[in-house]
Amino acid sequence: MISVVGFNTAIDRFIRLDTLGLGKVSRSLDEQVCPGGKGLHVAQTIAALGERVQLVGLVDSAHRNLIGRRLSERGVLFHGIEIADSLRTCIALRDATGQVTEVLGQGPLLNEEQREALLRAFRRSVDDSELVILSGSLPRGFPPTTYAEMATYVRDAGKRCLVDASGELLRQALQAQPFMVKPNRDEVAELLGRPIDDLAAAASAARELAVRGVEMPVVTMGAMGAVAADARGVWHAAIELAPIRNAVGSGDCLLAGMAVGMVRGMTLEETLRLGAACGAANAQGEETGFAERPAVAALLSQVRVHRLA
Ligand SMILES: Nc1ncnc2c1ncn2[C@@H]1O[C@H](COP(=O)(O)OP(=O)(O)OP(=O)(O)O)[C@@H](O)[C@H]1O
Ligand SMILES: [Mg+2]
Repeated sequence: MISVVGFNTAIDRFIRLDTLGLGKVSRSLDEQVCPGGKGLHVAQTIAALGERVQLVGLVDSAHRNLIGRRLSERGVLFHGIEIADSLRTCIALRDATGQVTEVLGQGPLLNEEQREALLRAFRRSVDDSELVILSGSLPRGFPPTTYAEMATYVRDAGKRCLVDASGELLRQALQAQPFMVKPNRDEVAELLGRPIDDLAAAASAARELAVRGVEMPVVTMGAMGAVAADARGVWHAAIELAPIRNAVGSGDCLLAGMAVGMVRGMTLEETLRLGAACGAANAQGEETGFAERPAVAALLSQVRVHRLA
């Protein structure tokens, strides 16, 4: 069993418009509402690849059915902690030119009792899993040391912990030396205080994270692929795609694929190949943060993996 901690469940609302005028009335042509949040993306992709997975996150009464139905259809065991406030909403407005304007809600501010309920569910999920993923932002009310504390808890339980976070949450989590961190180029640039413009820079960033005690650091570079390091060396994986549809959530899908590779005991090269195929499969599809098994299988052999000097 893999556990995904994605406390900050979101409701994603996609609205298609002809034109978006600031301060004007715009009429939507089409609207879609679906459960979102990075942890949910990771969990549903792990399930699609055929591994048992559970997700711990917030839920509200208005969306309990929507989220519960989606996750059970996709084979994710969901431990939802219900709150009276509304979940955060993320709105994406796409106009006829294809330009997307996003409005990201700040989400509920949790009290101590709600935070403790989430943390209890997290601790239970660690007990019955072999690998734990901490994914995305935390709801307001949690201090930025939270992932560091959770990663320490996972390590003390003898399990591997994978962290996908940014800013202060990532910086603090590194102190706990999680098994894997997976920043993208912007996140690692902010962390290390230098631009990460090419593969050489990504490889040196991965090596630096390894020196700081991360056993398997991964740096993702969008269309340029991903770089991963372990004690034996640094590998790069990439795939050339025809025009893509939507790369948002590709990092979540890459993480899902790598987690699956790890529980299946694959080598780093093959784990990275599976991750890159999942990231690419997501970018090819319309949906945010979901890669399905047939699409991943079709891309696997096209991923080029090689060792960096
Ligand atoms: N256009 C693309 N072509 C081929 N592969 C891609 C493309 N975009 C993403 N990928 C694959 O997906 C991986 C993750 O993408 P990216 O670096 O954009 O993650 P991210 O910024 O963390 O995404 P998110 O946080 O939205 O999930 C890349 O390392 C790459 O392997
Ligand atoms: Mg990301």
